[in-house]
Amino acid sequence: MSAPVITVDGPSGSGKGSLCQMLANSLGWHLLDSGALYRIVGLAAVKKDVSFTDEGALAELAAELDVEFKAGESGEPAAVFLDGEDISRQIRHEDSGTYASRVAVYNAVRDALKVLQRSFARAPGLIADGRDMGTVIFPDAQLKIYLTASAQERADRRYKQLINKGHNVNLAALLEDIKARDERDMNREVAPLKPASDAIIIDSTSMAIDDVFNQVIADFKKSS
Ligand code: C5P
Repeated sequence: MSAPVITVDGPSGSGKGSLCQMLANSLGWHLLDSGALYRIVGLAAVKKDVSFTDEGALAELAAELDVEFKAGESGEPAAVFLDGEDISRQIRHEDSGTYASRVAVYNAVRDALKVLQRSFARAPGLIADGRDMGTVIFPDAQLKIYLTASAQERADRRYKQLINKGHNVNLAALLEDIKARDERDMNREVAPLKPASDAIIIDSTSMAIDDVFNQVIADFKKSS
């Protein structure tokens, strides 16, 4: 029998990352940060001078990525290495999010990452964080969550996160980036961001992350 999966999809800054980390820690399950894979492909394209318009070359890059995840200590996110170089900080940068959403529009790139993503579903279970986890990658997941929040609230959250990490950011520019990324993710032809028909939709605009977590755990118990 295949391992149980909980999918968490939604736009950037909706709190998916924190929620998924909390769920994985609390259930002792594996975690797939699928956005990190697209960020890595985007960053690899920049480093290797591959054009964002060259679907074939980008797909080749995605299929041959020399990438390694090293588990973080006590709940810290995993460190990510590309060709032996630690790119953990670089992939979190806003530019990498934009590169990711540019390579993510291509079917061939998404296909190249499919098998890799599905290989994360191992016992005792998987929390899958992304945009198409419930619609495309794990359509038979036990529980599907679609987590959203207003664009302004998401920009405010991302701003605080980045400032706390010592990045130099501008709130208005961040809001524009978030809206542009939403537009690209929701309107692309392949695997657009949308709730699966059987997803539970949670709007976290005025919810604390602990309340979101408690609601998902309650939904999980109901689904077991
Ligand atoms: O979640 P994160 O912000 O790291 O994702 C970066 C970008 O990667 C998204 O804006 C989206 O374009 C792309 N992505 C995707 N499918 C996923 C995860 C991320 O297209 N499953």
